Amino acid sequence: MRIHVLGGGIIGLASADELLTRGHDVVVVDPAPGSGASAVAAGMLSPGGEAWHGEPDGHRLGAASARLWPSYAARLGVPLHEDGVLLVGHDAGDRQLVLRQAELLQSLDVEAEPLGGGDLRRLEPSLGRVAGGIRLQERAVDPRSVVAALLLRLGARVRRSAPRGEADVVVVATGSTLPEPWSSLVRGVRGEVVRLRTDDAPRHVVRGWVAGEPVYLVPRPGGEVVVGATVEEHDDGPRPTAGGVLRLLRAARVLVPALDRAEVLACEARDRPATRDHLPLVGPTHHPWTFLAAGHFRHGVLLAPLTARLLADAVEGADPDPAVDPRRLLPEPVPAAPDPSAPDPGGPQCT
Ligand code: GLY
Repeated sequence: MRIHVLGGGIIGLASADELLTRGHDVVVVDPAPGSGASAVAAGMLSPGGEAWHGEPDGHRLGAASARLWPSYAARLGVPLHEDGVLLVGHDAGDRQLVLRQAELLQSLDVEAEPLGGGDLRRLEPSLGRVAGGIRLQERAVDPRSVVAALLLRLGARVRRSAPRGEADVVVVATGSTLPEPWSSLVRGVRGEVVRLRTDDAPRHVVRGWVAGEPVYLVPRPGGEVVVGATVEEHDDGPRPTAGGVLRLLRAARVLVPALDRAEVLACEARDRPATRDHLPLVGPTHHPWTFLAAGHFRHGVLLAPLTARLLADAVEGADPDPAVDPRRLLPEPVPAAPDPSAPDPGGPQCT
């Protein structure tokens, strides 16, 4: 099939790459590929760390995609962070939040090793005072490397503007700004990150709470640490704010005190594409031959390999997973009423 994919973020590119691998003729259209949420995402592949109460489908999909990541990364030639995730609480109240997460993970059959403050600091000497935590065997990846690898694979198939010629199928993967009639399905939720460089980066991905404030620190090779991320419903543009940056740095410095001397490389913000039920839209719409791959909220990087497969399966005619079927959030199309002013078609009438 001739397929146009609108949107060159990690979801659009991964979907296009999968469709190309399956033998379709694919073009990706994006005026600035890779410059949306994928450019700022921290890249945690952490379904356990991101699990939330009342969202079992989110965890099921995240865990399924996390299992795909090792072979996916190998295929793209990008390294994974394999040193694990520490979920920590700074004070006694924060420790309660960690314990709640541990109970949730237990109910989802996820292994989470409980650790005291001393154990945590022995494992991760860069940590400051922490009351307790858990260790998760989860990974991270640099989303910019993933996007660069996908762009390389797709080459001239990625265009800044729409190509001439019709497509058999259109895949809309434009993140938090969907065109009509789907625009109301997704809203932007601002996420801010601060990029630091330090000689004292933590070895683990560190997630946690400091006086109730959530924060995560994701180390990259070469001493960069991505500190994220605020989660803010808003009506203005996705720009970093003084308050957001202050909250992130204050919490990050408590968890890893040596960050006090880190160099600030950048403060960045993007909108995450959030749906009403916090599950993505992957599959058919009521418009024949138009499919959605959008609305991944906090999980675009984690869900990219699974989304690519589900989307390509749906384009090829498979029934979508009901949890992500876009039609769950779309009203049934109302059949057009007959036009009373239209001329009588004549001929035999059914009575
Ligand atoms: N996945 C992490 C975030 O959205 O902040």
